[in-house]
Amino acid sequence: MIIKPKGTYDIYGLESKKWQYVNNLIDTLCEKYNYSLIRTPIFEATELFHRGVCETTDIVKKETYDFIDRGNRGMTLRPEGTAGVIRSYIENKMHGDPNQPIKFYYNGTMYRYERPQSGRDRELTQFGIEVLGTNDPSIDAEIISLPVTLLKILGLKGIKVNINTLGDDESRNNYRAALIKYFAPHITSLCEDCQARYLNNPLRILDCKVDANNELLKNAPITLDYLNEASADRFNKVKHYLTLLKIEYNIDPRIVRGLDYYNHTVFEIEATVKDFGSNNVLAGGGRYNSLVANLDGPQTDGMGFAMGVGRLILALDKEEIKLDINETIDCFIMYVNDEEKEEAVLLTQSLRVNGFITEMEYTNRALKNQFKQAERLKAKYLIILNSEDLKNNIVTIKDSITKEETKLPRAKIVEFLDSKV
Ligand code: HAM
Repeated sequence: MIIKPKGTYDIYGLESKKWQYVNNLIDTLCEKYNYSLIRTPIFEATELFHRGVCETTDIVKKETYDFIDRGNRGMTLRPEGTAGVIRSYIENKMHGDPNQPIKFYYNGTMYRYERPQSGRDRELTQFGIEVLGTNDPSIDAEIISLPVTLLKILGLKGIKVNINTLGDDESRNNYRAALIKYFAPHITSLCEDCQARYLNNPLRILDCKVDANNELLKNAPITLDYLNEASADRFNKVKHYLTLLKIEYNIDPRIVRGLDYYNHTVFEIEATVKDFGSNNVLAGGGRYNSLVANLDGPQTDGMGFAMGVGRLILALDKEEIKLDINETIDCFIMYVNDEEKEEAVLLTQSLRVNGFITEMEYTNRALKNQFKQAERLKAKYLIILNSEDLKNNIVTIKDSITKEETKLPRAKIVEFLDSKV
């Protein structure tokens, strides 16, 4: 037997209904916020992620699925959605569109070669948004408000919004210098990866899972102490808009995020759900005002976030949140002989076209078994065809709850069901 690769999942049955429900909600919500769907390739030139997400991050250094295609080109399965969206923005010259900011959302699979565990997969689905072409603090608040609203609509209570700012380039550089100075006497007490991070990108040290409980990290300088006036002022405006929108937040100066492209606002939304385990960050994002320029586009401000849809559904399960999922069908069509079966095929098609979720018996089972099948499918109405009645264009409809049976002219079925379903 061939089994699925580690860290991937099959979604079917009730589980896929949950995914569909959540995906539909995402589509509806993004439409209200006026974000348009963007679909970019699942694989891109390897260079995009190395320059975009940055060489020094774990995601690019250790977790990408890289391959050489048959034309000898280096390709990578996307580990996240932002880099592809930015590539598309530049390649399609969307910066020339007078209608800025451009607001996109996406919902698709990403690939990271991680150690699989609950909430941490190798094939993961991310829903995310990216806004390009504005640095206005009100958009930072809007971007944080969208996932918060989604979680509220879904009824997820145990959530915590953690925000921080890395400031502009000057602030970030000052902070970087402070970290280098702070860690210098203690380099050897850090894990091997952090020793390399010290040279390449010391902010990454604060994100380290190995050293997470090291006192040295806990007492490290915080970004907020190194902000210049403009950056501090900007952060105050973001907080003001969040307060205006009644979004409760917690300032967590330890958030620096796992990707290198961030400046100014960074945020994470945590699920404080019982038994959720350590992979409890449902969504993360931030501002990236240099990313478009780093990828050879014109200077363009941007910000976005992404949420793990699998993690979100796990959180809903842990909180035992019942989604309004339809597990019933409207009609099940039953018959005994082949002549009736032809009518069943036609009637099934006609009811489906008229908008009713309809299923029929396919394999001429005994009527007793057809009743059982209708029950398993949770059919609201059973339509029973028999040759004698059909000669007079009559069918029998049985309400599966009240057990009431009605004989109706065939032409009246849609009208009857319309009044009931
Ligand atoms: P990220 O923090 O790497 O950010 O991922 C965002 C979310 O994706 C996480 O909070 C988590 O819910 C989910 N996620 C990440 N890795 C896994 C995994 N292995 N298994 C299951 N879920 C996972 C980004 O990807 C950025 N591109 C977000 C962004 C958009 N920043 C600006 N724009």
